[in-house]
Amino acid sequence: MVAVAIVLLTALTLVIATATTLQLHASQRAQLDDRVRDAARRAVMAASRIPGDAPADYLFVPGQSIGTFGARLRDGAVAEATVLSSETAIDTVDAPPALLGVGRRPVTVSLGDELGDYRMVAERGRTGDVIVTGLPEAPMNATISRFIAMEAVVALTAVVLAALLGTAMVRRAMRPLHRLAATATRVSEQPLDRGDVVRLARVPDAYSHPGTEVGQVGVALNQMLGHIEESLAARHAGEVRLRKFVADASHELRTPLASIAGYAELAARDPGTHEHSLRRIRSETTRMTALVEDLLLLAKLDAGRPLAREELDLRPLLVNAVSDAYAASREHRWLVDFPGAGPEPGPGDDEPDATEPDATEPGALADDELCVVGDADRLYQVVTNLLANARSHTPPGTTVTTTLTVESGWLALRVRDDGPGIAAEVLPDLFDRFTRGDAGRSRQVGGTGLGLAIVAAVTAAHGGRVEVSSVPGDTVFTVWLPGARS
Ligand SMILES: Nc1ncnc2c1ncn2[C@@H]1O[C@H](COP(=O)(O)OP(=O)(O)O)[C@@H](O)[C@H]1O
Ligand SMILES: [Mg+2]
Repeated sequence: MVAVAIVLLTALTLVIATATTLQLHASQRAQLDDRVRDAARRAVMAASRIPGDAPADYLFVPGQSIGTFGARLRDGAVAEATVLSSETAIDTVDAPPALLGVGRRPVTVSLGDELGDYRMVAERGRTGDVIVTGLPEAPMNATISRFIAMEAVVALTAVVLAALLGTAMVRRAMRPLHRLAATATRVSEQPLDRGDVVRLARVPDAYSHPGTEVGQVGVALNQMLGHIEESLAARHAGEVRLRKFVADASHELRTPLASIAGYAELAARDPGTHEHSLRRIRSETTRMTALVEDLLLLAKLDAGRPLAREELDLRPLLVNAVSDAYAASREHRWLVDFPGAGPEPGPGDDEPDATEPDATEPGALADDELCVVGDADRLYQVVTNLLANARSHTPPGTTVTTTLTVESGWLALRVRDDGPGIAAEVLPDLFDRFTRGDAGRSRQVGGTGLGLAIVAAVTAAHGGRVEVSSVPGDTVFTVWLPGARS
Protein backbone atom coordinates (compact mmCIF):
# COMPACT_ATOMS: atom_id res chain seq x y z
CA MET A 1 0.00 0.00 0.00
CA VAL A 2 2.75 2.43 0.97
CA ALA A 3 4.81 1.60 -2.12
CA VAL A 4 1.87 2.23 -4.44
CA ALA A 5 1.07 5.51 -2.66
CA ILE A 6 4.70 6.62 -2.96
CA VAL A 7 4.87 5.80 -6.68
CA LEU A 8 1.64 7.75 -7.25
CA LEU A 9 2.85 10.68 -5.18
CA THR A 10 6.19 10.77 -7.05
CA ALA A 11 4.48 10.70 -10.44
CA LEU A 12 2.12 13.46 -9.37
CA THR A 13 4.97 15.59 -8.03
CA LEU A 14 6.90 15.17 -11.28
CA VAL A 15 3.92 16.28 -13.36
CA ILE A 16 3.29 19.34 -11.16
CA ALA A 17 7.01 20.26 -11.12
CA THR A 18 7.32 19.99 -14.90
CA ALA A 19 4.20 22.10 -15.47
CA THR A 20 5.27 24.87 -13.07
CA THR A 21 8.82 24.91 -14.46
CA LEU A 22 7.57 25.25 -18.04
CA GLN A 23 5.21 28.01 -16.96
CA LEU A 24 8.01 29.82 -15.09
CA HIS A 25 10.33 29.54 -18.10
CA ALA A 26 7.69 30.99 -20.42
CA SER A 27 6.90 33.93 -18.17
CA GLN A 28 10.59 34.67 -17.49
CA ARG A 29 11.34 34.70 -21.22
CA ALA A 30 8.39 36.97 -21.91
CA GLN A 31 9.77 39.41 -19.32
CA LEU A 32 13.27 39.17 -20.83
CA ASP A 33 11.85 39.80 -24.30
CA ASP A 34 10.07 42.94 -23.00
CA ARG A 35 13.31 44.16 -21.48
CA VAL A 36 15.24 43.41 -24.70
CA ARG A 37 12.72 45.47 -26.68
CA ASP A 38 13.03 48.35 -24.18
CA ALA A 39 16.82 48.19 -24.42
CA ALA A 40 16.62 48.13 -28.23
CA ARG A 41 14.33 51.20 -28.24
CA ARG A 42 16.75 53.10 -26.01
CA ALA A 43 19.71 52.09 -28.17
CA VAL A 44 18.05 53.08 -31.45
CA MET A 45 16.88 56.40 -29.99
CA ALA A 46 20.37 57.20 -28.73
CA ALA A 47 21.98 56.11 -31.99
CA SER A 48 19.70 58.36 -34.07
CA ARG A 49 20.17 61.39 -31.83
CA ILE A 50 23.95 61.27 -32.02
CA PRO A 51 24.71 59.73 -35.39
CA GLY A 52 28.26 58.57 -34.86
CA ASP A 53 30.23 55.46 -35.52
CA ALA A 54 31.09 54.42 -31.95
CA PRO A 55 29.28 51.80 -29.96
CA ALA A 56 29.21 54.33 -27.14
CA ASP A 57 26.38 55.97 -29.03
CA TYR A 58 23.92 53.22 -28.26
CA LEU A 59 25.33 51.37 -25.29
CA PHE A 60 26.18 54.24 -22.95
CA VAL A 61 22.59 55.19 -22.47
CA PRO A 62 20.84 55.68 -19.13
CA GLY A 63 18.88 52.54 -18.22
CA GLN A 64 21.06 50.16 -20.21
CA SER A 65 22.19 47.38 -17.87
CA ILE A 66 25.63 45.84 -17.60
CA GLY A 67 26.00 42.86 -19.90
CA THR A 68 23.85 44.42 -22.65
CA PHE A 69 24.99 43.43 -26.12
CA GLY A 70 24.99 45.88 -28.99
CA ALA A 71 25.94 45.55 -32.68
CA ARG A 72 25.63 47.78 -35.70
CA LEU A 73 24.92 46.27 -39.12
CA ARG A 74 25.72 48.32 -42.11
CA ASP A 75 25.30 47.19 -45.72
CA GLY A 76 24.51 43.60 -44.72
CA ALA A 77 27.65 43.19 -42.59
CA VAL A 78 28.49 43.55 -38.97
CA ALA A 79 30.22 46.91 -38.45
CA GLU A 80 30.97 46.17 -34.79
CA ALA A 81 29.72 44.03 -31.93
CA THR A 82 30.23 44.98 -28.31
CA VAL A 83 29.12 44.19 -24.77
CA LEU A 84 28.76 46.73 -21.93
CA SER A 85 31.17 45.12 -19.46
CA SER A 86 30.97 47.82 -16.77
CA GLU A 87 29.46 51.27 -16.36
CA THR A 88 32.38 52.77 -18.20
CA ALA A 89 33.84 49.98 -20.39
CA ILE A 90 32.87 48.25 -23.57
CA ASP A 91 34.32 44.93 -24.77
CA THR A 92 34.39 44.02 -28.41
CA VAL A 93 33.15 40.47 -29.06
CA ASP A 94 33.25 38.09 -32.02
CA ALA A 95 30.03 38.49 -33.93
CA PRO A 96 28.43 35.16 -34.81
CA PRO A 97 26.98 34.85 -38.34
CA ALA A 98 23.53 34.33 -36.84
CA LEU A 99 23.53 38.01 -35.96
CA LEU A 100 22.55 38.91 -39.52
CA GLY A 101 19.37 36.83 -39.20
CA VAL A 102 18.03 38.65 -36.15
CA GLY A 103 14.75 40.46 -36.83
CA ARG A 104 12.16 42.47 -34.94
CA ARG A 105 11.05 39.43 -32.98
CA PRO A 106 13.38 38.43 -30.11
CA VAL A 107 15.47 35.32 -30.83
CA THR A 108 18.17 33.45 -28.92
CA VAL A 109 21.69 33.70 -30.29
CA SER A 110 24.79 32.12 -28.73
CA LEU A 111 27.77 34.40 -28.12
CA GLY A 112 30.22 31.62 -27.34
CA ASP A 113 31.06 29.72 -24.20
CA GLU A 114 31.98 32.72 -22.09
CA LEU A 115 28.99 35.00 -22.68
CA GLY A 116 26.46 32.25 -23.32
CA ASP A 117 23.01 32.65 -24.92
CA TYR A 118 21.53 36.09 -25.56
CA ARG A 119 18.04 37.21 -26.38
CA MET A 120 18.41 39.61 -29.35
CA VAL A 121 16.26 41.93 -31.39
CA ALA A 122 17.09 44.17 -34.39
CA GLU A 123 15.82 47.73 -34.97
CA ARG A 124 16.57 50.01 -37.93
CA GLY A 125 17.89 53.42 -36.89
CA ARG A 126 17.28 56.72 -38.78
CA THR A 127 20.70 56.62 -40.34
CA GLY A 128 19.83 53.38 -42.06
CA ASP A 129 22.01 51.28 -39.79
CA VAL A 130 20.49 48.29 -38.09
CA ILE A 131 21.16 48.15 -34.35
CA VAL A 132 21.02 44.68 -32.81
CA THR A 133 20.49 44.77 -29.05
CA GLY A 134 20.67 41.73 -26.72
CA LEU A 135 20.39 40.75 -23.07
CA PRO A 136 21.94 37.63 -21.50
CA GLU A 137 19.73 34.64 -20.72
CA ALA A 138 22.06 33.54 -17.89
CA PRO A 139 20.19 35.32 -15.02
CA MET A 140 16.88 33.85 -16.24
CA ASN A 141 18.43 30.37 -16.45
CA ALA A 142 19.88 30.79 -12.97
CA THR A 143 16.45 31.71 -11.58
CA ILE A 144 14.90 28.67 -13.23
CA SER A 145 17.69 26.40 -11.98
CA ARG A 146 17.22 27.71 -8.42
CA PHE A 147 13.49 27.09 -8.75
CA ILE A 148 14.04 23.52 -9.98
CA ALA A 149 16.49 22.84 -7.13
CA MET A 150 14.00 24.15 -4.56
CA GLU A 151 11.21 22.09 -6.14
CA ALA A 152 13.37 18.97 -6.01
CA VAL A 153 14.15 19.47 -2.32
CA VAL A 154 10.49 20.08 -1.43
CA ALA A 155 9.27 17.11 -3.48
CA LEU A 156 11.90 14.77 -2.06
CA THR A 157 11.08 15.84 1.50
CA ALA A 158 7.38 15.36 0.84
CA VAL A 159 7.89 11.87 -0.62
CA VAL A 160 10.18 10.77 2.22
CA LEU A 161 7.80 12.16 4.84
CA ALA A 162 4.85 10.49 3.15
CA ALA A 163 6.73 7.19 3.03
CA LEU A 164 7.64 7.34 6.74
CA LEU A 165 4.21 8.53 7.89
CA GLY A 166 2.38 6.13 5.58
CA THR A 167 4.43 3.16 6.79
CA ALA A 168 3.82 4.10 10.41
CA MET A 169 0.08 4.53 9.85
CA VAL A 170 -0.34 1.30 7.89
CA ARG A 171 1.65 -0.57 10.56
CA ARG A 172 -0.61 0.89 13.23
CA ALA A 173 -3.77 0.02 11.33
CA MET A 174 -2.54 -3.53 10.67
CA ARG A 175 -1.38 -4.28 14.21
CA PRO A 176 -4.79 -5.74 15.20
CA LEU A 177 -4.52 -8.11 12.24
CA HIS A 178 -1.31 -9.46 13.74
CA ARG A 179 -3.21 -10.09 16.95
CA LEU A 180 -5.97 -11.90 15.06
CA ALA A 181 -3.40 -14.00 13.25
CA ALA A 182 -1.67 -14.77 16.56
CA THR A 183 -4.99 -15.87 18.08
CA ALA A 184 -5.77 -18.09 15.10
CA THR A 185 -2.30 -19.63 15.32
CA ARG A 186 -2.71 -20.29 19.03
CA VAL A 187 -6.08 -21.98 18.47
CA SER A 188 -4.61 -24.11 15.69
CA GLU A 189 -1.99 -25.35 18.14
CA GLN A 190 -4.55 -26.39 20.75
CA PRO A 191 -5.38 -30.12 20.76
CA LEU A 192 -9.04 -30.47 19.83
CA ASP A 193 -9.22 -33.99 18.47
CA ARG A 194 -9.71 -35.83 21.75
CA GLY A 195 -10.48 -35.48 25.41
CA ASP A 196 -12.33 -32.79 27.23
CA VAL A 197 -12.45 -29.43 25.47
CA VAL A 198 -10.16 -26.75 26.85
CA ARG A 199 -11.16 -23.11 26.56
CA LEU A 200 -10.11 -21.84 23.15
CA ALA A 201 -7.98 -18.71 22.85
CA ARG A 202 -9.85 -15.49 22.07
CA VAL A 203 -9.00 -12.20 20.38
CA PRO A 204 -8.46 -9.62 23.18
CA ASP A 205 -11.29 -7.13 23.70
CA ALA A 206 -9.12 -4.25 22.48
CA TYR A 207 -9.06 -5.81 19.00
CA SER A 208 -12.65 -6.99 18.80
CA HIS A 209 -14.95 -4.00 18.80
CA PRO A 210 -17.27 -3.48 15.85
CA GLY A 211 -16.11 0.12 15.27
CA THR A 212 -13.43 -0.83 12.72
CA GLU A 213 -13.23 -3.37 9.94
CA VAL A 214 -10.45 -5.27 11.66
CA GLY A 215 -12.44 -5.11 14.91
CA GLN A 216 -15.40 -6.68 13.12
CA VAL A 217 -13.16 -9.52 11.98
CA GLY A 218 -12.13 -9.91 15.63
CA VAL A 219 -15.76 -10.04 16.78
CA ALA A 220 -16.61 -12.59 14.10
CA LEU A 221 -13.58 -14.69 14.99
CA ASN A 222 -14.54 -14.69 18.67
CA GLN A 223 -18.10 -15.67 17.80
CA MET A 224 -16.82 -18.50 15.66
CA LEU A 225 -14.48 -19.69 18.42
CA GLY A 226 -17.36 -19.60 20.92
CA HIS A 227 -19.48 -21.64 18.56
CA ILE A 228 -16.71 -24.18 18.00
CA GLU A 229 -16.11 -24.43 21.74
CA GLU A 230 -19.78 -25.11 22.45
CA SER A 231 -20.06 -27.62 19.62
CA LEU A 232 -16.96 -29.49 20.75
CA ALA A 233 -18.22 -29.52 24.34
CA ALA A 234 -21.60 -30.85 23.18
CA ARG A 235 -19.92 -33.50 21.08
CA HIS A 236 -17.66 -34.52 23.93
CA ALA A 237 -20.61 -34.74 26.32
CA GLY A 238 -22.39 -36.91 23.75
CA GLU A 239 -19.39 -39.22 23.47
CA VAL A 240 -19.14 -39.54 27.25
CA ARG A 241 -22.88 -40.30 27.45
CA LEU A 242 -22.62 -42.89 24.73
CA ARG A 243 -19.64 -44.59 26.36
CA LYS A 244 -21.47 -44.72 29.68
CA PHE A 245 -24.55 -46.10 27.93
CA VAL A 246 -22.60 -48.89 26.29
CA ALA A 247 -20.86 -49.73 29.57
CA ASP A 248 -24.17 -49.71 31.49
CA ALA A 249 -25.94 -51.78 28.84
CA SER A 250 -23.18 -54.41 28.86
CA HIS A 251 -23.34 -54.50 32.63
CA GLU A 252 -27.13 -54.94 32.60
CA LEU A 253 -26.87 -57.76 30.08
CA ARG A 254 -24.13 -59.51 32.01
CA THR A 255 -26.31 -60.02 35.08
CA PRO A 256 -29.04 -62.15 33.45
CA LEU A 257 -26.39 -63.93 31.34
CA ALA A 258 -24.52 -64.90 34.49
CA SER A 259 -27.76 -66.23 36.01
CA ILE A 260 -28.55 -68.25 32.90
CA ALA A 261 -25.06 -69.73 32.84
CA GLY A 262 -25.30 -70.50 36.55
CA TYR A 263 -28.68 -72.25 36.30
CA ALA A 264 -27.61 -74.18 33.22
CA GLU A 265 -24.60 -75.51 35.12
CA LEU A 266 -26.73 -76.31 38.14
CA ALA A 267 -29.22 -78.26 36.00
CA ALA A 268 -26.39 -80.23 34.40
CA ARG A 269 -24.91 -81.19 37.78
CA ASP A 270 -28.15 -81.86 39.66
CA PRO A 271 -31.00 -83.17 37.49
CA GLY A 272 -33.33 -82.71 40.47
CA THR A 273 -33.27 -78.93 40.01
CA HIS A 274 -34.15 -79.10 36.31
CA GLU A 275 -37.58 -77.61 36.64
CA HIS A 276 -36.55 -74.75 38.89
CA SER A 277 -33.49 -73.96 36.75
CA LEU A 278 -35.52 -73.90 33.55
CA ARG A 279 -38.05 -71.53 35.13
CA ARG A 280 -35.29 -69.19 36.21
CA ILE A 281 -33.61 -69.40 32.81
CA ARG A 282 -36.91 -68.54 31.13
CA SER A 283 -37.53 -65.55 33.36
CA GLU A 284 -33.99 -64.25 32.90
CA THR A 285 -34.40 -64.65 29.13
CA THR A 286 -37.61 -62.63 29.28
CA ARG A 287 -35.80 -59.89 31.18
CA MET A 288 -32.96 -59.86 28.68
CA THR A 289 -35.41 -59.71 25.79
CA ALA A 290 -37.17 -56.73 27.37
CA LEU A 291 -33.85 -55.01 27.93
CA VAL A 292 -32.64 -55.62 24.38
CA GLU A 293 -35.96 -54.39 22.97
CA ASP A 294 -35.70 -51.21 25.04
CA LEU A 295 -32.11 -50.71 23.89
CA LEU A 296 -33.10 -51.20 20.26
CA LEU A 297 -35.94 -48.71 20.58
CA LEU A 298 -33.64 -46.12 22.15
CA ALA A 299 -31.03 -46.68 19.45
CA LYS A 300 -33.73 -46.16 16.82
CA LEU A 301 -34.88 -42.93 18.47
CA ASP A 302 -31.25 -41.77 18.81
CA ALA A 303 -30.70 -42.33 15.12
CA GLY A 304 -33.68 -40.05 14.47
CA ARG A 305 -35.58 -42.73 12.52
CA PRO A 306 -38.91 -41.23 11.49
CA LEU A 307 -41.91 -42.34 13.57
CA ALA A 308 -45.34 -43.03 12.19
CA ARG A 309 -47.34 -39.81 11.82
CA GLU A 310 -51.07 -40.33 12.07
CA GLU A 311 -53.70 -38.25 13.75
CA LEU A 312 -54.91 -40.17 16.78
CA ASP A 313 -57.28 -39.60 19.66
CA LEU A 314 -55.44 -40.16 22.92
CA ARG A 315 -58.55 -41.21 24.89
CA PRO A 316 -58.99 -44.81 23.66
CA LEU A 317 -55.23 -45.23 24.00
CA LEU A 318 -55.46 -44.14 27.65
CA VAL A 319 -58.43 -46.35 28.36
CA ASN A 320 -56.61 -49.39 26.97
CA ALA A 321 -53.42 -48.65 28.88
CA VAL A 322 -55.23 -48.16 32.18
CA SER A 323 -57.22 -51.35 31.54
CA ASP A 324 -53.96 -53.25 31.11
CA ALA A 325 -52.57 -51.74 34.32
CA TYR A 326 -55.77 -52.66 36.14
CA ALA A 327 -55.47 -56.19 34.88
CA ALA A 328 -51.85 -56.35 36.05
CA SER A 329 -52.56 -55.15 39.57
CA ARG A 330 -55.95 -55.04 41.20
CA GLU A 331 -54.29 -54.01 44.45
CA HIS A 332 -53.99 -50.43 43.16
CA ARG A 333 -56.82 -47.98 42.60
CA TRP A 334 -56.85 -46.89 38.96
CA LEU A 335 -58.67 -43.67 38.04
CA VAL A 336 -59.03 -42.05 34.64
CA ASP A 337 -60.31 -38.56 34.07
CA PHE A 338 -60.51 -36.72 30.77
CA PRO A 339 -63.22 -34.89 28.86
CA GLY A 340 -65.80 -37.48 27.85
CA ALA A 341 -64.53 -40.21 30.19
CA GLY A 342 -67.02 -42.40 32.03
CA PRO A 343 -67.13 -43.23 35.75
CA GLU A 344 -63.82 -44.24 37.27
CA PRO A 345 -63.00 -47.93 37.57
CA GLY A 346 -62.63 -49.25 41.07
CA PRO A 347 -62.77 -52.39 43.15
CA GLY A 348 -65.87 -54.27 42.15
CA ASP A 349 -65.72 -53.10 38.59
CA ASP A 350 -64.28 -55.64 36.22
CA GLU A 351 -63.07 -53.10 33.70
CA PRO A 352 -62.17 -49.45 33.89
CA ASP A 353 -64.69 -48.46 31.26
CA ALA A 354 -64.88 -45.26 29.34
CA THR A 355 -68.49 -44.66 28.44
CA GLU A 356 -69.84 -42.62 25.57
CA PRO A 357 -68.55 -39.04 25.55
CA ASP A 358 -70.82 -36.92 27.72
CA ALA A 359 -72.16 -34.29 25.39
CA THR A 360 -73.92 -32.38 28.17
CA GLU A 361 -70.71 -31.87 30.15
CA PRO A 362 -70.08 -28.12 30.59
CA GLY A 363 -67.17 -26.79 28.51
CA ALA A 364 -67.06 -29.97 26.42
CA LEU A 365 -64.18 -30.05 23.96
CA ALA A 366 -64.37 -30.79 20.30
CA ASP A 367 -63.11 -34.30 19.58
CA ASP A 368 -60.09 -33.29 17.53
CA GLU A 369 -58.80 -31.14 20.38
CA LEU A 370 -57.67 -34.27 22.17
CA CYS A 371 -55.81 -35.58 19.14
CA VAL A 372 -52.09 -35.62 18.47
CA VAL A 373 -50.15 -36.45 15.35
CA GLY A 374 -47.80 -39.30 16.07
CA ASP A 375 -47.02 -42.96 16.48
CA ALA A 376 -49.79 -44.82 18.35
CA ASP A 377 -47.57 -47.77 19.42
CA ARG A 378 -44.85 -45.52 20.82
CA LEU A 379 -47.30 -43.23 22.64
CA TYR A 380 -48.99 -46.31 24.06
CA GLN A 381 -45.58 -47.39 25.35
CA VAL A 382 -45.13 -43.97 27.03
CA VAL A 383 -48.36 -44.35 28.97
CA THR A 384 -47.65 -48.02 29.75
CA ASN A 385 -44.19 -47.20 31.10
CA LEU A 386 -45.58 -44.48 33.37
CA LEU A 387 -48.39 -46.71 34.62
CA ALA A 388 -45.98 -49.63 35.12
CA ASN A 389 -43.78 -47.42 37.27
CA ALA A 390 -46.77 -46.24 39.29
CA ARG A 391 -47.62 -49.88 39.82
CA SER A 392 -44.22 -51.39 40.49
CA HIS A 393 -42.62 -48.63 42.56
CA THR A 394 -45.57 -48.06 44.92
CA PRO A 395 -47.12 -50.28 47.57
CA PRO A 396 -50.53 -51.92 47.15
CA GLY A 397 -53.47 -49.62 47.87
CA THR A 398 -51.89 -46.68 46.05
CA THR A 399 -54.29 -44.62 43.94
CA VAL A 400 -53.06 -43.88 40.41
CA THR A 401 -54.93 -41.17 38.50
CA THR A 402 -54.48 -40.66 34.76
CA THR A 403 -55.78 -37.38 33.35
CA LEU A 404 -55.78 -35.68 29.96
CA THR A 405 -56.33 -31.94 29.62
CA VAL A 406 -55.80 -29.28 26.98
CA GLU A 407 -53.73 -26.29 28.11
CA SER A 408 -53.10 -23.48 25.62
CA GLY A 409 -52.96 -25.75 22.61
CA TRP A 410 -50.88 -28.42 24.35
CA LEU A 411 -52.15 -31.76 25.54
CA ALA A 412 -51.15 -32.53 29.11
CA LEU A 413 -51.17 -36.24 29.95
CA ARG A 414 -50.67 -36.69 33.69
CA VAL A 415 -50.07 -39.86 35.72
CA ARG A 416 -50.33 -39.09 39.43
CA ASP A 417 -49.95 -41.46 42.37
CA ASP A 418 -50.04 -41.04 46.12
CA GLY A 419 -47.20 -43.50 46.70
CA PRO A 420 -43.99 -42.85 48.66
CA GLY A 421 -42.49 -40.68 45.89
CA ILE A 422 -39.02 -40.44 44.36
CA ALA A 423 -35.86 -39.47 46.31
CA ALA A 424 -34.94 -35.85 45.59
CA GLU A 425 -31.34 -36.76 44.67
CA VAL A 426 -32.55 -39.05 41.86
CA LEU A 427 -34.98 -36.51 40.36
CA PRO A 428 -32.49 -34.46 38.25
CA ASP A 429 -31.23 -37.57 36.39
CA LEU A 430 -34.52 -39.46 36.48
CA PHE A 431 -34.91 -39.49 32.68
CA ASP A 432 -31.32 -40.62 32.06
CA ARG A 433 -30.68 -44.17 30.94
CA PHE A 434 -30.29 -46.75 33.69
CA THR A 435 -31.23 -44.33 36.47
CA ARG A 436 -32.99 -46.28 39.19
CA GLY A 437 -34.28 -45.00 42.49
CA ASP A 438 -34.11 -48.37 44.16
CA ALA A 439 -31.89 -50.56 42.03
CA GLY A 440 -32.50 -53.82 43.91
CA ARG A 441 -36.28 -53.55 43.97
CA SER A 442 -36.45 -52.22 40.43
CA ARG A 443 -34.66 -55.33 39.08
CA GLN A 444 -36.82 -57.57 41.18
CA VAL A 445 -39.97 -56.17 39.57
CA GLY A 446 -38.45 -56.54 36.12
CA GLY A 447 -37.44 -52.92 35.50
CA THR A 448 -34.68 -52.21 33.01
CA GLY A 449 -33.96 -48.68 34.18
CA LEU A 450 -34.79 -47.51 30.64
CA GLY A 451 -38.54 -46.90 31.03
CA LEU A 452 -38.39 -43.17 31.71
CA ALA A 453 -35.54 -42.65 29.21
CA ILE A 454 -37.87 -44.11 26.56
CA VAL A 455 -40.72 -41.89 27.76
CA ALA A 456 -38.48 -38.82 27.38
CA ALA A 457 -37.10 -39.87 23.98
CA VAL A 458 -40.49 -40.72 22.46
CA THR A 459 -42.03 -37.49 23.80
CA ALA A 460 -39.15 -35.46 22.38
CA ALA A 461 -39.54 -37.21 19.02
CA HIS A 462 -43.15 -36.00 19.03
CA GLY A 463 -42.07 -32.41 19.68
CA GLY A 464 -43.08 -32.52 23.33
CA ARG A 465 -41.40 -32.86 26.71
CA VAL A 466 -41.91 -34.65 29.99
CA GLU A 467 -41.83 -33.25 33.53
CA VAL A 468 -41.84 -34.83 36.96
CA SER A 469 -42.60 -33.51 40.42
CA SER A 470 -42.51 -35.72 43.45
CA VAL A 471 -43.07 -35.41 47.18
CA PRO A 472 -44.08 -38.29 49.42
CA GLY A 473 -47.77 -38.89 48.73
CA ASP A 474 -47.86 -37.03 45.46
CA THR A 475 -45.83 -38.00 42.40
CA VAL A 476 -46.86 -36.49 39.08
CA PHE A 477 -45.45 -37.22 35.63
CA THR A 478 -46.68 -34.80 32.96
CA VAL A 479 -46.22 -35.51 29.27
CA TRP A 480 -46.73 -32.40 27.12
CA LEU A 481 -47.62 -33.09 23.49
CA PRO A 482 -48.45 -30.55 20.80
CA GLY A 483 -52.14 -30.79 19.90
CA ALA A 484 -52.98 -31.90 16.37
CA ARG A 485 -55.09 -28.79 15.91
CA SER A 486 -52.33 -26.29 16.76
N1 LIG B 1 -44.34 -43.47 40.27
C1 LIG B 1 -43.15 -43.66 40.84
N2 LIG B 1 -43.03 -43.72 42.18
C2 LIG B 1 -41.83 -43.92 42.72
N3 LIG B 1 -40.68 -44.07 42.06
C3 LIG B 1 -40.73 -44.01 40.72
C4 LIG B 1 -41.97 -43.82 40.04
N4 LIG B 1 -41.70 -43.80 38.73
C5 LIG B 1 -40.38 -43.99 38.59
N5 LIG B 1 -39.79 -44.12 39.78
C6 LIG B 1 -38.35 -44.28 40.03
O1 LIG B 1 -37.67 -43.93 38.85
C7 LIG B 1 -36.75 -44.95 38.51
C8 LIG B 1 -36.60 -45.02 37.01
O2 LIG B 1 -37.75 -45.51 36.38
P1 LIG B 1 -37.61 -46.25 35.02
O3 LIG B 1 -36.79 -45.46 34.12
O4 LIG B 1 -38.98 -46.61 34.55
O5 LIG B 1 -36.80 -47.57 35.40
P2 LIG B 1 -37.31 -48.88 36.09
O6 LIG B 1 -38.77 -48.76 36.26
O7 LIG B 1 -36.92 -49.94 35.16
O8 LIG B 1 -36.56 -48.96 37.37
C9 LIG B 1 -37.31 -46.18 39.08
O9 LIG B 1 -36.28 -47.12 39.39
C10 LIG B 1 -37.97 -45.70 40.36
O10 LIG B 1 -37.06 -45.65 41.41
MG1 LIG C 1 -40.06 -48.46 34.71
